[in-house]
Amino acid sequence: MDIDRYHVQIRGYKMQPPIDLVERSLSILRAGQTSTGAFVACPSFPAYQYCWFRDATFIAHALDLWDDHSRAQRFYDWAVRVVLDNRAAVQSALATTIGAIPRTYLHTRYRLDGSPSEDDWPNFQLDGFGTFLWGLVSHLRMTGEEPPEDWLVAVQLLTSYLAHLWQSPSFDCWEEHPDKIHISTLCALYGGLVGVARHFYWGHCQRTADLIRTFVLQHVSPVGHLPKFIGTNVVDASLLWASIPFGMLDPSDPVMIRTVMRIEADLIGPHGGVHRYATDSYYGGGAWLLLTALFGEYLLARGDRARAISALEWIEQQASPMGELPEQVPYDLNDPTMYEPWVKRWGPIACPLLWSHAAYLQLKHALSDHPDSTR
Ligand code: BGC
Repeated sequence: MDIDRYHVQIRGYKMQPPIDLVERSLSILRAGQTSTGAFVACPSFPAYQYCWFRDATFIAHALDLWDDHSRAQRFYDWAVRVVLDNRAAVQSALATTIGAIPRTYLHTRYRLDGSPSEDDWPNFQLDGFGTFLWGLVSHLRMTGEEPPEDWLVAVQLLTSYLAHLWQSPSFDCWEEHPDKIHISTLCALYGGLVGVARHFYWGHCQRTADLIRTFVLQHVSPVGHLPKFIGTNVVDASLLWASIPFGMLDPSDPVMIRTVMRIEADLIGPHGGVHRYATDSYYGGGAWLLLTALFGEYLLARGDRARAISALEWIEQQASPMGELPEQVPYDLNDPTMYEPWVKRWGPIACPLLWSHAAYLQLKHALSDHPDSTR
C-alpha cells in the first residue's frame, strides 16, 4: 500500500478535523484503565486485551508526566498486587540455576482482573519488570510520596528476581527470540535497578546494575555499537532504551552514537518512521509510532529539536480521523507479503494502541518542557 492511499482511504488523514491529540491521548489512556487500575494494551484488538507490565508502566508514566498521578498510582497498586499474588512463582524462580530458564515465573501480561492467562503466550520476559521498577520510582519522585509497605515488599521481590535471572535467555520486548539475551531487556533491568538503588539507597541493586552495564559493554559489536542480542551484529530500535529512558549510556556516549547511526541507516523509513528491526515481518514490518517517539526524544536529548519535532509530526500524521494512534503503519513495509496474512489472522493493526499514545505524550511533554519550546 502506498502512503497516500493509506492516508486518504484507510485512515482518512487528509479529511481529519482538527483534534487536540494531547487531550485525545489522555482520554484514551484514561478510558483504557479498569476500576482496579489495570491498563488494557489495546481495547479493540483481542490479543491485546490484557495488561502488560511494559505497556502499562509507560502509560502510567505518561499520565504522571501530564499530572494525573492518581491514575498512575492505581496502576502501581494493581501491579503490586499481581506481584504479591504471584510471590510463590518468584520465590521458586529464585532457586533456578544462574543462566537457566525458571520453570515458574512472572508472566509478562495478565488479565485485567490480575489473574494470569492460561494460554501459550511467550510469557517469560524480564524487561517489563525493570521498566516497572523504573516507572514506580519515577512516580515516587514526581509525587514525593512515601511508598506503602506492600509496594516495598513487591520492589524487594522484583529486585531479587531480576538480580537472579538477568543472565537467563528470555523473550525480548517484541516477544521473540526466547533463546537469546537481549540488550534492550538488560537496559530496562539496569534502569529499574539503578532507580531503586538511588531512591531507596539499596547498594546491592546498584552492584547488580553495574554488573549488567559491564556485561553489555563487553558485548558491543566489532564496530562498536550495541547489538540486538548477544551473538548478533544487527541492531534493533529498542536499543534506544540504553539512553532514553533507562540511562545506561549518555546520549552522546560514542557507543550510543554508533548504535543510533546504525539504527538510522537500517531502520528509518523514507517518511521518518522507525521500524523495530530490519527483518521484522509482523504486519509486514511497518514503522512503529512508539519507536518514532522514542527516537524523537533521543534527538531532543542530543539537541536536535528540529528533527524531534519532525518525529512528533510524523506521529500526528498517523492519527485516525478519531484521533487514535495505531501500533504501526502499513506502508513502507519490510516485507509487504506479510501484511495480509496478519490481517487475516488477527484483524487490522491494533488501534488505538495505548503505548503509542503514551509515547506520543512523553515526546510532546519533553518538547514542551524544553526551554526554547515553540510547541
Ligand atoms: C509487542 C509488545 C507489546 C504487545 C502489546 C506486541 O506485539 O511486541 O512489545 O507489549 O504487543 O502492546
